[in-house]
Amino acid sequence: MRLVRHDRNHSYRIKLKDLPGIDRLTTDPALLEYEFKICACGLSKNKPFCDSSHHIAKKEEDGKLYVYDASNTAVRIDDSYEG
Ligand code: FES
Repeated sequence: MRLVRHDRNHSYRIKLKDLPGIDRLTTDPALLEYEFKICACGLSKNKPFCDSSHHIAKKEEDGKLYVYDASNTAVRIDDSYEG
């Protein structure tokens, strides 16, 4: 088992044109403007892409530690955590 900490509660937005080497694959301006979201909260069921599950994490209280089960149900496990 591995426990991984995620502090962010929203995704990273990335445009295709920002990927290194993309200019060798396409020069289509419309395609280069395509934007996708990468999960940074750790809760997506479609990693590495964001599936909007991060909205669950927006209910978290600052300074509290949460653990999520496979169904993305949160359990706050430490009331004194100061990350
Ligand atoms: S950032 Fe994780 S689901 Fe959106």
